[in-house]
Amino acid sequence: MGRALLGGAAAARSPRDSALRVHRFSTPPALGRPRAALIIRAHFSEAAALFRLAHVSDLHATRVRFSGAREWNAKRALGWISWQTRRRHRYRPEIAARLIDDLVASAPDHVAVTGDLTHMGLAAEAAEATGWLARLGPPERVTLVPGNHDAQGAARDHEVMDAWRPYLNSDAASGAGPSFPSVRVRGPIALVGVSSAVPTPVHLATGRAGDAQLARVAQLLSELGARGLCRIVLVHHPPTRAHVSWRRRLEDGDALCAIVARAGAELVLHGHTHRATRDAIASPGGAIPVLGVPATSSAAASRPGAYQVFEIEERGRGRFAITRELHEIDLARSIVRARPREVL
Ligand SMILES: [Fe+2]
Repeated sequence: MGRALLGGAAAARSPRDSALRVHRFSTPPALGRPRAALIIRAHFSEAAALFRLAHVSDLHATRVRFSGAREWNAKRALGWISWQTRRRHRYRPEIAARLIDDLVASAPDHVAVTGDLTHMGLAAEAAEATGWLARLGPPERVTLVPGNHDAQGAARDHEVMDAWRPYLNSDAASGAGPSFPSVRVRGPIALVGVSSAVPTPVHLATGRAGDAQLARVAQLLSELGARGLCRIVLVHHPPTRAHVSWRRRLEDGDALCAIVARAGAELVLHGHTHRATRDAIASPGGAIPVLGVPATSSAAASRPGAYQVFEIEERGRGRFAITRELHEIDLARSIVRARPREVL
């Protein structure tokens, strides 16, 4: 199960490669059909049917540096004390780097990032975090929604958001505006990005989507569902209540859950819990999985840094088989381990 971080073995583990190997070795020459043709057909059907989506969240991999007095406020003053005494030991950039190297080597089709790249949403952190995004991939292959730690400035549309705009924007062809929700379509997948990042008072880490954004989410999910796409909602705060306290909740989470249940979705991915949480939203079409992931840089033994990969197979129009595999850092051995694949 263990795998060396820098061994370059991940490419050989690609499911497309392994599928090809199976077809090559299991194709009996006695069938009398051109062997090369069978291999090519296997390659194209696999490429069309299987989509690999990686999910990371809560990188918290930046150094806290203030650019001037205007960046200070009460929440950031307490945050700075917390970072000096606790957070800079708990969240280690080298752990995020190892996991991201592993993720990139496995060549997913797309990467979803559900916020909290920074500790305090400072301009210097935003610039540093742009480097982490580039390390994950180009903007057309990486989709981002912000987290509460990224929105500790005075306004919702903080300069942090501007620095990351290429990763936040909707597809140009979608007709969506520059604000949230965002929508990106990649193959059979439609990513609907919801921003829950709003400035909050000291001691609160809540989020809010807002009525206008929620109304547009309902419309988008219906439209994308009618196109037979696999709808994946990305939001920093979990919309369900099972894994967050009152002071860390999504204030309009019930409304988002009701919309997802009514309009339909195939997955909801979030961060904020810093754990590989699993919950569900009941809907007329069945339970819709709601899944969290540990913080990428976490050095905590109880919830070490991790990312997760979803394999999404189209089984007919609007029908998908989805599995999840968690890739977790082994802090003692400096290797990344894959947990057993989970069918959703
Ligand atoms: Fe976080």
